[in-house]
Amino acid sequence: MRRLIAVLGIVVAPVLCAAQTPAKFPPDSLVNTRVISHATPVILVIGTMRNFTSYLGVRCQYCHVGVEGQPLDKFDFVSDDKRAKVVARQMMLMLQEINRRLDSLPEGMGAKLQVTCNTCHRGTSRPFPLSTLISDAAASAGADSALRAYRALRERYYGRDAYDFGEGSLNIAAFRLGGLKKFDEALAILKLNEELYPNSSGMYVFRGNINLMKADTTAAEAAFREAIRRDPNNQEAKGRVQAIGKQP
Ligand code: HEC
Ligand code: HEC
Repeated sequence: MRRLIAVLGIVVAPVLCAAQTPAKFPPDSLVNTRVISHATPVILVIGTMRNFTSYLGVRCQYCHVGVEGQPLDKFDFVSDDKRAKVVARQMMLMLQEINRRLDSLPEGMGAKLQVTCNTCHRGTSRPFPLSTLISDAAASAGADSALRAYRALRERYYGRDAYDFGEGSLNIAAFRLGGLKKFDEALAILKLNEELYPNSSGMYVFRGNINLMKADTTAAEAAFREAIRRDPNNQEAKGRVQAIGKQP
């Protein structure tokens, strides 16, 4: 749930923290940069910083000491007091390492892809997959709270790159919950998925598998048969029905 609060707590806001007093912001020189070379023009550094806000879906004060709405010349960009800034510096080093390794790949692979913060973050500060957020929320705070969280995330992020709202995410979340023996929660999550994807055959395979984990063979068989009714070519469901000991 902590992860989810962190995710939902972010104000999704425009990238720019409008610069107001050019005399002091941008600063004349770099003071406490340990990854970015001191010789880098300040204007390029500010560009990098604006990219950070967009990649993580945050504002400057997420990493820097300052207050929302305050002019940027009142911010203390030099300070390392915020944990997020310290983490971000580690992330910058990690990125350099990743890109160095990518650069050392053999030739002939076409255009080289460079990794950015956005490769992982995609507009969120903590890049957890949706299935993890939802199964964590259900395991720690119950199914209702997980369902509310899913709807809130979908409302905010649908159509963005941040989370996969396709059918798979809730199936995976439900399967994880089944593994934790949280069967009621798992089935509640699948019920929401059914509302969203009412004709899915694959989801009934998940429902069947969760019922098998629950040792409810009757419900499992009914679910696998429903999967076959929805898609007569669903081989996985046919195999499961056979495994239960009956012909499909
Ligand atoms: C995800 C975290 C993060 C966000 C968001 C962020 N910064 Fe930074 N910023 C850093 C880190 C880390 C450094 C230090 C880099 C280094 O050590 O090389 C830094 C350094 C700076 C510096 C140089 C400070 C010095 O020591 O001279 C300025 C100026 C700055 N940021 C401005 C901004 C502005 C303006 C924004 C909003 C548009 C912003 N930052 C958003 C992480 C962030
Ligand atoms: C290879 C994937 C990856 C890349 C690339 C990456 N990050 Fe991260 N980042 C993560 C993961 C995973 C976490 C969550 C770690 C955790 O909380 O357990 C994270 C966490 C963070 C956090 C802490 C968020 C919080 O509030 O706890 C910051 C800040 C951050 N990243 C900044 C950056 C910046 C800036 C870049 C680019 C320079 C970057 N990351 C690149 C994977 C990545």
